[in-house]
Amino acid sequence: MNVNELQTIATDLILQALRQKEEVRIPEETLENIPQWLEIPPEVAMGDYAFPCFRLAKLMRKAPPKIALEIVHTLQDSIDRCEEFSKVEAVGAYINFHISISFLTHRILPTIFDGSYFEASSRVDKKEKVMIEYSQPNTHKGFHVGHMRNVALGESLCKIYQYNGFEVIAVNYIGDVGTHVAKCLWYYQQQKEPIVAQEKAKGERLGELYTQATLQLDSASAEKKKEYHEEISKILRLLESKTSEVYQLWKTTRQWSIHDFMEIYSWLGVKFDHIFYESDVDELGKELVLEYLEKDIFENSEGAIGIDLKEQKLGFFLLLKSDGNTLYSTKDLALAKKKFEEFKIDRSIYVVGAEQTLHFKQVFATLEKMNYPQATHCFHLPYALVMLPSGKMSSRQGNVILFSELREKMSQYIQENFLHHYLHQWSDEELEETTRNIAIAAIKYGMLAQDSNKPIVFSLKDWLVSEGNTGTYLLYAYVRIQSIVRQVKEENHPIALDTLTHPNEHVLIRQLFAMNGVVSNAGQQYRPSLIVRYLYDLCKIFSRTYSTCSVKHAQTKELRMARRLLFLCTGKVLKEGLKLLGIVPPERM
Ligand code: ARG
Repeated sequence: MNVNELQTIATDLILQALRQKEEVRIPEETLENIPQWLEIPPEVAMGDYAFPCFRLAKLMRKAPPKIALEIVHTLQDSIDRCEEFSKVEAVGAYINFHISISFLTHRILPTIFDGSYFEASSRVDKKEKVMIEYSQPNTHKGFHVGHMRNVALGESLCKIYQYNGFEVIAVNYIGDVGTHVAKCLWYYQQQKEPIVAQEKAKGERLGELYTQATLQLDSASAEKKKEYHEEISKILRLLESKTSEVYQLWKTTRQWSIHDFMEIYSWLGVKFDHIFYESDVDELGKELVLEYLEKDIFENSEGAIGIDLKEQKLGFFLLLKSDGNTLYSTKDLALAKKKFEEFKIDRSIYVVGAEQTLHFKQVFATLEKMNYPQATHCFHLPYALVMLPSGKMSSRQGNVILFSELREKMSQYIQENFLHHYLHQWSDEELEETTRNIAIAAIKYGMLAQDSNKPIVFSLKDWLVSEGNTGTYLLYAYVRIQSIVRQVKEENHPIALDTLTHPNEHVLIRQLFAMNGVVSNAGQQYRPSLIVRYLYDLCKIFSRTYSTCSVKHAQTKELRMARRLLFLCTGKVLKEGLKLLGIVPPERM
């Protein structure tokens, strides 16, 4: 028995009622769609499933609440006989289904225990291939706290989609060409002391040079500015010739940044299946634009090439400069082509800041004009900025918290405040691993707790508080559950689940069962924040249950074992849910 089957039972009941209606005949096409209308209510108290009657109103010529009442009335006998649902009621325009607690306890709890509840195979028939592109940092710039929002979102979406049964290809698209690179190299060449090979975090040093470069440019006189820009253009031109000295410098320095990025990903536990580079699609983009100019889909405009998207209210989209140089847009067309043709994907998701919303609308509209069938399955997931309490972060201005700094400060804070008891007890590995896991939890949780359309104000201390809506709180809850389970020895089988009769235990069981519905919604709506909310609620419900339903002091051995199992399952759901956020909880802390 899995979630889908329960949903089918619910919609079959609705269908049965609708087919019985003699006064109106509902067309078969409508009836076929009914299963897709079933929703998962935002709160467990509103039932496990809800069926909205709005779309039946026109057909049945009745107000939705009236329809809901009538359906429930027709179904009364069947509901009474059905073991899966204990209550089906009309609430406003909805029919709410409450799964029977005895059914959940006996049939679902064991699947959580044996892990089959978490298996995607029971939830999908056809594996769709989705590519999720995220992170995409630019070389020659520093990797800072702001970049973490993208990483956290992208990684979590990959895990959610995988969980929901999709075949996911996680990709990165590193920006290793363009003006920012030329600016950095221009400034680098002015330095008397070059960066030496032995130096650590050389990529970060490059980021500093980039910031210095923009400062020098911004503060220059008009005359000097012109001169500097000519020098930078010259570098851009020289980079095209693969024999120039500056091209060699680009190759070396680019590697420094990439090395830094890979080190960060590895610390974060983030993995990509493939990495694209802007430099890989530069030439290809140019060829593609010329090909479609030839095909008359693109047009010339004062020497440059672009596409007219005025009909779509997206203006004129420039695709190649008049000097023949490529643009950000040029490369995106080639990148999309590669994604479609080399990876044969069905769906393509781009996790990129909200400031690029227009760009992606234009890219997708262009791909459609180019007749790529997958163009309509491209989706840009925008996210808002990460701010500092003092305001906006910008690597141009250098007021950013670099990732290395964040990692260092967090680790220090964690060891001083949470792990000081263990400093001399634990092995170095355990100490380091636990510190890392707590830091990752704090960062990723903080980045995912907020819906992606709202800005985040980053605060190291607030994110590391062990009470309230933080990653740290969830980790403590997990560790506590593990220690409760460890303290009670497992005895006698089979476990008498009937002994779980306390209302708080029932609330907890319902919450455990709600997980797959929440993860499914989180995927469909691109909102890991739904999982954050769910897990936070789960921990609060657990605390409440534990304070009223002690394991150790349970009246009977049967009850003690049943509660032990309930909490063990709570730990499993929490761990599995955290995994979807890219967080690994430590077993002790
Ligand atoms: N590297 C780019 C930037 O920092 C983001 C790339 C986004 N992805 C894309 N396919 N354009 O702005």
